[in-house]
Amino acid sequence: MRLRRPFTALFAGSAAPIALVAGHSLENDGPQQRPTVVKRAGAGAGCGPSAGNAICDAGLCCSEGGFCGTGGAFCSGPACQLSYGPGCDGNQVPAGTSTSNTPRPKFGNVPYGVDISHCSVKGQVALTFDDGPYIYTPELLDTLKRNNVPATFFIVGNNAGKGQVSDPTSGYTPIIQRMIADGHQVGSHTWSHQDMNAITPQQRRAQIINNEIALVNILGVIPTYFRPPYTRCGADCYQLLGELGYRVVNYDVDTRDWENGGANSKSVYQSIISQSSPAVSQWLSLAHDVQEFTVHSLAQFMIDTAKNLGFQLVTVGECLGDPPSNWYRDPSTGQPRDARGATPPPPQRVPTTSSSSTGKSSSTSAPKPTKIAETNFRLDAPPITTSGTGGNTTSSRVVSSASSRAGSSTSTPGVVSTRVPDIGGRRAVPMQEYIPATRVGGSVTLGLVLGLACMVLFWAGG
Ligand SMILES: *[C@@H]1O[C@H](CO)[C@@H](O)[C@H](O)[C@H]1NC(C)=O
Repeated sequence: MRLRRPFTALFAGSAAPIALVAGHSLENDGPQQRPTVVKRAGAGAGCGPSAGNAICDAGLCCSEGGFCGTGGAFCSGPACQLSYGPGCDGNQVPAGTSTSNTPRPKFGNVPYGVDISHCSVKGQVALTFDDGPYIYTPELLDTLKRNNVPATFFIVGNNAGKGQVSDPTSGYTPIIQRMIADGHQVGSHTWSHQDMNAITPQQRRAQIINNEIALVNILGVIPTYFRPPYTRCGADCYQLLGELGYRVVNYDVDTRDWENGGANSKSVYQSIISQSSPAVSQWLSLAHDVQEFTVHSLAQFMIDTAKNLGFQLVTVGECLGDPPSNWYRDPSTGQPRDARGATPPPPQRVPTTSSSSTGKSSSTSAPKPTKIAETNFRLDAPPITTSGTGGNTTSSRVVSSASSRAGSSTSTPGVVSTRVPDIGGRRAVPMQEYIPATRVGGSVTLGLVLGLACMVLFWAGG
């Protein structure tokens, strides 16, 4: 099989300083490997690529705009530059037992380490919500409960300066526990919502493991479902996720609820899922519970629309025909473990390393999550090129995806090599796409796409 590695250049740029800090060399064996003096930077000084790759002093964060400091404007993920800011929220490690030695047996029929963009059970719609939990999430849970609808949440453990979700003072622990109690599925969406293609292999692994530690603290289990932020996951990323026992879930309905306050989300969702009957179709939808519009309005609309068309609303695991015990693994044995009935370890105090300024008090009684600057959230929108926190414009962080989309390769049974463009819009570099067997036969979408491809080929050839 031929795997493309379009992001080598990016790694080379960011890996060098880390290699020096860590004292051993990484995958970067290019000509610039010659040891150089590490530039250090104190509070207020420049850091990162815009300042000669200077690394902030211990405890300091390197803001997106390239300055060392503390507090949410400097430290929150994913904006904080991990390689240059030792204090970045994304570099924090949650208290609790590391899962890095957990065995990763692969169980069930849903494949690991490949792109899964479609449900397989006809007549089902899986609603998924990314990037939370956040202050709106309890209201969404209320809505889902009122409608008796299960959904799937892809959790980010420490983004936007909201604090570590397993820190008892963050207020997020009971919200995630309620998800399980209410019958929803919980998957991982990384620790601090970094672009998995733009960080080093060590950072990529830590993004997965740290979120596992936090989720084990909260739920007592490790999820086996994962969605990469921005749907960006190159060959190395898919391989790692396969090794760590993850089913990599994308989507085929993109509500783009982060765009213009969700102005087009309802019509996009409706037009996609109403294009064929529940007898021949199934859908996997993407939205974000950090969006007020989504929680206040879109969620109910998505439920009503699907039900009115005769679809059944289910979790991602269910729409892939995977039983609930396979959605998680036991942190000690690695074996399948139903989250309902699993017990998390006793709460641990998180060392007060957090430099985020989320305005939380250190009170011990029933903490509530607090509202934070919503620009701190980096939704699964196209790569960021403009300013984020603190009003400072970032140096360009453009990562091309369109250029790495073309091409195709393998033919493992069940793993289809085509790059099926999503009807819902933007998609990024799937390495291999898994199309469930039940879908291959009768899929209107696939037929349409193949038909279109033939037309294009014929047209180009003539
Ligand atoms: C914004 O830029 C100013 C200098 O122009 C700098 O002092 C400050 O630390 C920067 N803030 C962030 C969050 O990068």
